[in-house]
Amino acid sequence: MKALEMQVAGGPEALRFSNRPTPSVAADELLLRVRCAALNYRDWDILRGAYGSFQLPLVLGSDAVAEVVQVGHGVTRFAVGERVLPTDTPDWITGPPDETRIARRLGGPLDGVLAELISVSAEAAVRAPAHLGDEEASTLAGAGVTAWQALYGSGGLEPGHTVVVQGTGGVSLFALQLARFGGANVIVLSRSAQKLERALALGATFGVDTRRTPEWQHEVLRLTNGRGADLVLDVLGGTAVARSIAATRVGGRVALLGFLEDGTAVLDLKQAIRRSVTLATSSGRSRDMFEALVRAFEAGGLHPVIDRSFAFQDAAAAFAHLASGAAFGKIVVRIAGPGEGTPPGPIDSRLAGS
Ligand SMILES: NC(=O)c1ccc[n+]([C@@H]2O[C@H](COP(=O)([O-])OP(=O)(O)OC[C@H]3O[C@@H](n4cnc5c(N)ncnc54)[C@H](OP(=O)(O)O)[C@@H]3O)[C@@H](O)[C@H]2O)c1
Repeated sequence: MKALEMQVAGGPEALRFSNRPTPSVAADELLLRVRCAALNYRDWDILRGAYGSFQLPLVLGSDAVAEVVQVGHGVTRFAVGERVLPTDTPDWITGPPDETRIARRLGGPLDGVLAELISVSAEAAVRAPAHLGDEEASTLAGAGVTAWQALYGSGGLEPGHTVVVQGTGGVSLFALQLARFGGANVIVLSRSAQKLERALALGATFGVDTRRTPEWQHEVLRLTNGRGADLVLDVLGGTAVARSIAATRVGGRVALLGFLEDGTAVLDLKQAIRRSVTLATSSGRSRDMFEALVRAFEAGGLHPVIDRSFAFQDAAAAFAHLASGAAFGKIVVRIAGPGEGTPPGPIDSRLAGS
Protein backbone atom coordinates (compact mmCIF):
# COMPACT_ATOMS: atom_id res chain seq x y z
CA MET A 1 0.00 0.00 0.00
CA LYS A 2 1.11 3.54 -0.80
CA ALA A 3 2.15 5.97 1.95
CA LEU A 4 3.58 9.48 1.82
CA GLU A 5 6.76 9.66 3.90
CA MET A 6 8.84 12.45 5.31
CA GLN A 7 12.34 11.02 4.86
CA VAL A 8 14.31 14.14 5.81
CA ALA A 9 13.29 17.53 7.18
CA GLY A 10 12.70 20.05 4.41
CA GLY A 11 10.14 21.61 2.11
CA PRO A 12 7.33 19.81 0.28
CA GLU A 13 9.96 18.34 -2.08
CA ALA A 14 11.26 16.29 0.89
CA LEU A 15 8.10 14.14 0.75
CA ARG A 16 8.34 10.74 -0.99
CA PHE A 17 5.83 8.01 -1.76
CA SER A 18 6.80 4.55 -0.54
CA ASN A 19 5.27 1.10 -0.72
CA ARG A 20 4.66 -0.33 2.73
CA PRO A 21 3.14 -3.65 3.79
CA THR A 22 -0.51 -3.66 4.81
CA PRO A 23 -0.55 -2.82 8.55
CA SER A 24 -1.25 -5.77 10.81
CA VAL A 25 -4.44 -5.69 12.88
CA ALA A 26 -4.36 -6.68 16.55
CA ALA A 27 -7.41 -8.06 18.34
CA ASP A 28 -8.49 -4.61 19.55
CA GLU A 29 -7.73 -2.75 16.31
CA LEU A 30 -9.36 -1.63 13.09
CA LEU A 31 -7.83 -1.68 9.64
CA LEU A 32 -8.94 1.49 7.89
CA ARG A 33 -8.88 2.52 4.25
CA VAL A 34 -8.25 6.25 4.33
CA ARG A 35 -10.59 8.18 2.02
CA CYS A 36 -9.42 11.74 2.71
CA ALA A 37 -6.84 13.35 4.99
CA ALA A 38 -6.81 17.01 6.04
CA LEU A 39 -3.61 18.97 6.66
CA ASN A 40 -2.81 21.04 9.75
CA TYR A 41 -0.12 23.64 10.26
CA ARG A 42 1.54 21.15 12.64
CA ASP A 43 2.18 18.82 9.67
CA TRP A 44 4.07 21.59 7.91
CA ASP A 45 5.99 22.50 11.09
CA ILE A 46 7.04 18.84 11.51
CA LEU A 47 8.05 18.51 7.84
CA ARG A 48 10.30 21.58 7.95
CA GLY A 49 11.84 20.51 11.26
CA ALA A 50 10.27 23.31 13.32
CA TYR A 51 8.37 21.01 15.72
CA GLY A 52 11.14 18.97 17.32
CA SER A 53 12.60 15.82 15.83
CA PHE A 54 10.90 12.51 15.17
CA GLN A 55 12.18 9.15 14.06
CA LEU A 56 12.23 9.05 10.24
CA PRO A 57 10.84 8.00 7.87
CA LEU A 58 7.52 9.26 9.21
CA VAL A 59 4.07 9.24 7.62
CA LEU A 60 2.62 12.70 8.32
CA GLY A 61 -1.00 13.68 8.89
CA SER A 62 -3.31 13.36 11.90
CA ASP A 63 -6.81 14.04 10.51
CA ALA A 64 -8.74 11.67 8.25
CA VAL A 65 -11.98 10.00 7.37
CA ALA A 66 -11.71 6.30 6.65
CA GLU A 67 -13.71 3.17 6.00
CA VAL A 68 -13.38 0.16 8.29
CA VAL A 69 -12.15 -2.73 6.12
CA GLN A 70 -11.22 -5.26 8.84
CA VAL A 71 -11.82 -5.53 12.58
CA GLY A 72 -9.75 -7.43 15.15
CA HIS A 73 -11.64 -10.34 16.74
CA GLY A 74 -12.18 -8.46 20.02
CA VAL A 75 -13.75 -5.35 18.47
CA THR A 76 -17.43 -4.63 19.07
CA ARG A 77 -17.34 -0.82 18.74
CA PHE A 78 -17.31 -0.75 14.90
CA ALA A 79 -18.13 -3.06 12.00
CA VAL A 80 -16.67 -3.43 8.51
CA GLY A 81 -18.01 -0.76 6.16
CA GLU A 82 -18.53 1.97 8.78
CA ARG A 83 -17.08 5.42 8.18
CA VAL A 84 -14.91 6.60 11.07
CA LEU A 85 -12.61 9.43 12.13
CA PRO A 86 -9.41 8.38 13.95
CA THR A 87 -8.65 10.44 17.05
CA ASP A 88 -5.31 12.22 16.65
CA THR A 89 -4.24 11.60 20.28
CA PRO A 90 -5.09 7.88 20.45
CA ASP A 91 -4.32 7.21 24.14
CA TRP A 92 -6.47 10.08 25.46
CA ILE A 93 -10.04 8.86 25.80
CA THR A 94 -11.44 11.02 28.62
CA GLY A 95 -10.50 13.20 31.59
CA PRO A 96 -7.68 15.74 31.85
CA PRO A 97 -4.39 15.42 29.93
CA ASP A 98 -1.46 13.60 31.49
CA GLU A 99 1.96 12.46 30.33
CA THR A 100 0.83 9.09 28.98
CA ARG A 101 -2.40 10.33 27.41
CA ILE A 102 -0.81 12.97 25.17
CA ALA A 103 2.58 11.41 24.38
CA ARG A 104 1.55 9.59 21.20
CA ARG A 105 0.03 11.55 18.31
CA LEU A 106 -0.74 10.51 14.75
CA GLY A 107 1.64 12.10 12.26
CA GLY A 108 4.51 12.32 14.80
CA PRO A 109 5.74 10.43 16.72
CA LEU A 110 3.29 7.76 15.40
CA ASP A 111 2.93 7.22 11.67
CA GLY A 112 0.01 9.26 10.44
CA VAL A 113 -2.87 9.11 8.00
CA LEU A 114 -1.35 10.07 4.63
CA ALA A 115 -1.45 6.42 3.58
CA GLU A 116 -3.91 4.14 1.82
CA LEU A 117 -4.33 1.85 4.82
CA ILE A 118 -3.74 2.42 8.54
CA SER A 119 -4.53 0.45 11.68
CA VAL A 120 -5.76 2.13 14.88
CA SER A 121 -7.19 0.98 18.19
CA ALA A 122 -10.97 0.67 17.96
CA GLU A 123 -11.10 2.91 21.05
CA ALA A 124 -9.24 5.64 19.13
CA ALA A 125 -11.91 6.42 16.54
CA VAL A 126 -15.34 8.05 16.44
CA ARG A 127 -18.23 7.67 13.98
CA ALA A 128 -18.18 10.19 11.14
CA PRO A 129 -21.19 12.54 11.08
CA ALA A 130 -23.58 11.24 8.38
CA HIS A 131 -24.36 14.71 6.99
CA LEU A 132 -20.73 15.41 6.02
CA GLY A 133 -19.07 14.30 2.80
CA ASP A 134 -15.63 12.67 2.97
CA GLU A 135 -13.65 15.87 2.37
CA GLU A 136 -15.59 17.71 5.07
CA ALA A 137 -15.49 14.88 7.61
CA SER A 138 -11.71 14.50 7.28
CA THR A 139 -11.11 17.98 8.74
CA LEU A 140 -12.63 17.65 12.21
CA ALA A 141 -10.01 15.86 14.36
CA GLY A 142 -7.33 18.50 14.89
CA ALA A 143 -8.51 22.04 14.16
CA GLY A 144 -12.18 21.31 14.85
CA VAL A 145 -11.70 19.70 18.25
CA THR A 146 -9.09 22.30 19.23
CA ALA A 147 -11.55 25.10 18.47
CA TRP A 148 -14.40 23.34 20.28
CA GLN A 149 -12.28 22.74 23.38
CA ALA A 150 -10.87 26.28 23.45
CA LEU A 151 -14.40 27.73 23.23
CA TYR A 152 -16.58 25.38 25.26
CA GLY A 153 -14.17 23.16 27.18
CA SER A 154 -11.58 25.38 28.81
CA GLY A 155 -12.96 28.64 27.35
CA GLY A 156 -16.34 28.74 29.09
CA LEU A 157 -17.93 30.59 26.16
CA GLU A 158 -21.55 31.66 26.70
CA PRO A 159 -24.22 33.22 24.47
CA GLY A 160 -23.58 36.93 24.15
CA HIS A 161 -19.84 36.63 24.79
CA THR A 162 -17.32 38.06 22.33
CA VAL A 163 -14.47 35.95 21.03
CA VAL A 164 -11.52 37.05 18.87
CA VAL A 165 -10.01 34.65 16.32
CA GLN A 166 -6.75 35.29 14.49
CA GLY A 167 -6.50 34.56 10.77
CA THR A 168 -8.77 32.49 8.59
CA GLY A 169 -7.13 29.06 8.81
CA GLY A 170 -8.52 25.81 10.14
CA VAL A 171 -8.71 26.49 13.88
CA SER A 172 -10.01 30.05 13.49
CA LEU A 173 -12.81 29.25 11.02
CA PHE A 174 -13.99 26.28 13.09
CA ALA A 175 -14.02 28.63 16.08
CA LEU A 176 -15.99 31.23 14.08
CA GLN A 177 -18.65 28.67 13.13
CA LEU A 178 -18.89 27.07 16.56
CA ALA A 179 -18.99 30.36 18.45
CA ARG A 180 -21.72 31.77 16.21
CA PHE A 181 -23.65 28.49 16.62
CA GLY A 182 -23.45 29.04 20.39
CA GLY A 183 -24.75 32.63 20.15
CA ALA A 184 -21.45 34.48 20.68
CA ASN A 185 -20.08 37.47 18.75
CA VAL A 186 -16.91 36.84 16.76
CA ILE A 187 -14.24 39.35 15.78
CA VAL A 188 -12.04 37.93 13.00
CA LEU A 189 -8.54 39.31 12.43
CA SER A 190 -6.94 38.72 9.02
CA ARG A 191 -4.10 39.97 6.86
CA SER A 192 -6.45 39.96 3.88
CA ALA A 193 -9.46 42.21 3.21
CA GLN A 194 -10.79 39.63 0.77
CA LYS A 195 -10.65 36.86 3.38
CA LEU A 196 -12.40 39.16 5.87
CA GLU A 197 -15.28 39.58 3.40
CA ARG A 198 -15.63 35.82 3.30
CA ALA A 199 -15.47 35.57 7.11
CA LEU A 200 -18.25 38.17 7.41
CA ALA A 201 -20.32 36.16 4.92
CA LEU A 202 -19.82 33.12 7.18
CA GLY A 203 -21.30 35.05 10.12
CA ALA A 204 -18.41 36.97 11.70
CA THR A 205 -19.71 39.97 13.65
CA PHE A 206 -16.72 42.20 12.82
CA GLY A 207 -13.56 41.88 10.74
CA VAL A 208 -10.27 43.68 11.42
CA ASP A 209 -7.59 43.93 8.73
CA THR A 210 -4.32 43.54 10.64
CA ARG A 211 -2.26 44.92 7.74
CA ARG A 212 -4.12 48.22 8.06
CA THR A 213 -4.54 48.00 11.85
CA PRO A 214 -1.43 46.29 13.24
CA GLU A 215 -2.31 47.47 16.79
CA TRP A 216 -5.62 45.62 16.50
CA GLN A 217 -6.13 45.34 20.27
CA HIS A 218 -7.36 48.97 20.30
CA GLU A 219 -9.93 48.12 17.64
CA VAL A 220 -11.15 45.12 19.66
CA LEU A 221 -11.58 47.41 22.69
CA ARG A 222 -13.47 49.94 20.54
CA LEU A 223 -15.75 47.23 19.12
CA THR A 224 -16.53 45.97 22.63
CA ASN A 225 -17.28 49.44 24.04
CA GLY A 226 -13.96 49.54 25.89
CA ARG A 227 -14.58 46.31 27.78
CA GLY A 228 -12.51 43.85 25.79
CA ALA A 229 -13.26 40.38 24.47
CA ASP A 230 -14.29 37.56 26.79
CA LEU A 231 -11.98 35.13 25.01
CA VAL A 232 -9.13 35.40 22.49
CA LEU A 233 -7.93 32.33 20.59
CA ASP A 234 -4.25 33.12 19.99
CA VAL A 235 -2.73 31.06 17.16
CA LEU A 236 0.01 33.58 16.37
CA GLY A 237 2.21 33.63 19.48
CA GLY A 238 5.17 36.04 19.34
CA THR A 239 4.30 39.69 19.80
CA ALA A 240 0.60 38.97 19.26
CA VAL A 241 0.25 37.53 22.77
CA ALA A 242 0.67 40.94 24.40
CA ARG A 243 -2.01 42.31 22.06
CA SER A 244 -4.31 39.39 22.83
CA ILE A 245 -4.03 40.13 26.57
CA ALA A 246 -4.65 43.84 26.02
CA ALA A 247 -7.74 42.97 23.93
CA THR A 248 -9.24 40.75 26.67
CA ARG A 249 -11.65 41.99 29.30
CA VAL A 250 -10.72 41.99 32.97
CA GLY A 251 -11.24 38.39 34.12
CA GLY A 252 -11.29 37.08 30.54
CA ARG A 253 -9.21 34.33 28.96
CA VAL A 254 -6.58 33.93 26.25
CA ALA A 255 -6.19 30.43 24.80
CA LEU A 256 -2.57 30.11 23.67
CA LEU A 257 -2.90 27.59 20.86
CA GLY A 258 -0.26 28.25 18.24
CA PHE A 259 2.86 30.07 17.19
CA LEU A 260 2.45 31.05 13.55
CA GLU A 261 4.35 34.29 14.22
CA ASP A 262 6.89 33.01 16.76
CA GLY A 263 7.24 30.25 19.38
CA THR A 264 8.54 32.78 21.89
CA ALA A 265 5.85 35.04 23.29
CA VAL A 266 6.37 38.66 24.26
CA LEU A 267 3.98 39.74 26.97
CA ASP A 268 3.55 42.36 29.63
CA LEU A 269 3.06 40.32 32.79
CA LYS A 270 1.96 43.35 34.79
CA GLN A 271 -0.81 43.98 32.27
CA ALA A 272 -1.90 40.32 32.35
CA ILE A 273 -1.92 40.19 36.17
CA ARG A 274 -3.59 43.57 36.62
CA ARG A 275 -6.37 42.50 34.24
CA SER A 276 -6.68 39.02 35.86
CA VAL A 277 -6.46 37.42 32.44
CA THR A 278 -6.21 33.62 32.44
CA LEU A 279 -3.66 32.26 29.96
CA ALA A 280 -4.42 28.66 28.96
CA THR A 281 -2.43 26.33 26.74
CA SER A 282 -3.43 22.97 25.32
CA SER A 283 -1.96 20.12 23.33
CA GLY A 284 -3.78 17.08 22.00
CA ARG A 285 -7.42 16.18 22.31
CA SER A 286 -9.47 13.46 24.02
CA ARG A 287 -12.03 11.21 22.33
CA ASP A 288 -14.71 12.71 24.60
CA MET A 289 -13.95 16.18 23.21
CA PHE A 290 -14.09 14.79 19.66
CA GLU A 291 -17.50 13.20 20.27
CA ALA A 292 -18.76 16.50 21.71
CA LEU A 293 -17.63 18.30 18.55
CA VAL A 294 -19.34 15.71 16.34
CA ARG A 295 -22.59 16.18 18.32
CA ALA A 296 -22.34 19.95 17.88
CA PHE A 297 -21.79 19.60 14.13
CA GLU A 298 -24.77 17.25 13.85
CA ALA A 299 -27.04 19.40 16.03
CA GLY A 300 -26.20 22.54 14.07
CA GLY A 301 -26.02 20.92 10.63
CA LEU A 302 -22.63 22.63 10.38
CA HIS A 303 -20.22 22.11 7.48
CA PRO A 304 -16.45 22.73 7.74
CA VAL A 305 -14.91 25.29 5.38
CA ILE A 306 -12.73 23.60 2.76
CA ASP A 307 -10.29 25.80 0.89
CA ARG A 308 -9.10 23.26 -1.65
CA SER A 309 -8.62 19.53 -2.14
CA PHE A 310 -5.74 17.77 -3.90
CA ALA A 311 -5.32 14.26 -5.33
CA PHE A 312 -3.00 11.99 -3.30
CA GLN A 313 -0.28 12.16 -5.96
CA ASP A 314 -0.33 15.98 -5.60
CA ALA A 315 0.07 15.94 -1.79
CA ALA A 316 3.36 17.88 -2.00
CA ALA A 317 1.45 20.72 -3.72
CA ALA A 318 -1.07 20.60 -0.87
CA PHE A 319 1.78 21.15 1.63
CA ALA A 320 3.13 24.04 -0.48
CA HIS A 321 -0.33 25.61 -0.43
CA LEU A 322 -0.52 25.22 3.36
CA ALA A 323 2.93 26.78 3.75
CA SER A 324 1.92 29.79 1.64
CA GLY A 325 -0.64 30.91 4.26
CA ALA A 326 -3.07 31.67 1.40
CA ALA A 327 -5.76 29.21 2.40
CA PHE A 328 -9.17 30.14 3.76
CA GLY A 329 -10.12 27.08 5.80
CA LYS A 330 -8.93 23.51 5.41
CA ILE A 331 -6.75 21.81 2.82
CA VAL A 332 -7.68 18.21 2.03
CA VAL A 333 -5.89 15.33 0.28
CA ARG A 334 -8.15 12.79 -1.47
CA ILE A 335 -6.72 9.29 -1.04
CA ALA A 336 -9.46 6.85 -2.12
CA GLY A 337 -13.13 7.26 -3.06
CA PRO A 338 -15.79 4.84 -1.70
CA GLY A 339 -15.06 1.35 -3.04
CA GLU A 340 -11.66 2.35 -4.44
CA GLY A 341 -8.20 1.27 -3.29
CA THR A 342 -6.23 -1.94 -3.08
CA PRO A 343 -7.90 -4.83 -1.21
CA PRO A 344 -6.29 -5.17 2.23
CA GLY A 345 -5.64 -8.93 1.91
CA PRO A 346 -6.47 -11.59 4.52
CA ILE A 347 -6.60 -10.56 8.17
CA ASP A 348 -3.48 -11.43 10.14
CA SER A 349 -4.88 -14.33 12.18
CA ARG A 350 -1.82 -14.46 14.46
CA LEU A 351 -2.39 -10.86 15.62
CA ALA A 352 -6.15 -11.14 15.57
CA GLY A 353 -5.77 -13.75 18.28
CA SER A 354 -7.91 -16.47 16.67
N1 LIG B 1 -2.51 23.58 20.68
C1 LIG B 1 -3.13 22.77 19.85
O1 LIG B 1 -3.61 21.71 20.22
C2 LIG B 1 -3.26 23.19 18.40
C3 LIG B 1 -4.19 22.58 17.56
C4 LIG B 1 -4.31 23.02 16.24
C5 LIG B 1 -3.48 24.06 15.79
N2 LIG B 1 -2.57 24.61 16.60
C6 LIG B 1 -1.67 25.68 16.15
O2 LIG B 1 -2.48 26.79 15.76
C7 LIG B 1 -1.89 27.48 14.67
C8 LIG B 1 -2.89 27.54 13.51
O3 LIG B 1 -3.11 26.25 13.03
P1 LIG B 1 -4.07 26.00 11.78
O4 LIG B 1 -3.94 24.54 11.45
O5 LIG B 1 -5.41 26.58 12.03
O6 LIG B 1 -3.32 26.86 10.65
P2 LIG B 1 -3.76 27.20 9.17
O7 LIG B 1 -5.03 26.50 8.83
O8 LIG B 1 -2.59 27.00 8.30
O9 LIG B 1 -4.13 28.76 9.24
C9 LIG B 1 -3.21 29.75 9.41
C10 LIG B 1 -3.88 31.12 9.17
O10 LIG B 1 -3.29 32.05 10.07
C11 LIG B 1 -3.11 33.30 9.43
N3 LIG B 1 -1.71 33.72 9.61
C12 LIG B 1 -1.32 34.86 10.24
N4 LIG B 1 -0.01 34.95 10.29
C13 LIG B 1 0.49 33.88 9.67
C14 LIG B 1 1.80 33.43 9.41
N5 LIG B 1 2.88 34.12 9.81
N6 LIG B 1 1.95 32.27 8.73
C15 LIG B 1 0.87 31.53 8.35
N7 LIG B 1 -0.42 31.93 8.59
C16 LIG B 1 -0.60 33.09 9.24
C17 LIG B 1 -3.54 33.13 7.99
O11 LIG B 1 -4.83 33.73 7.89
P3 LIG B 1 -4.98 35.20 7.24
O12 LIG B 1 -4.31 35.12 5.90
O13 LIG B 1 -6.44 35.39 7.21
O14 LIG B 1 -4.30 36.18 8.16
C18 LIG B 1 -3.64 31.63 7.78
O15 LIG B 1 -4.70 31.27 6.92
C19 LIG B 1 -0.59 26.71 14.35
O16 LIG B 1 0.49 27.31 15.02
C20 LIG B 1 -0.87 25.32 14.92
O17 LIG B 1 0.31 24.62 15.24
C21 LIG B 1 -2.44 24.20 17.91
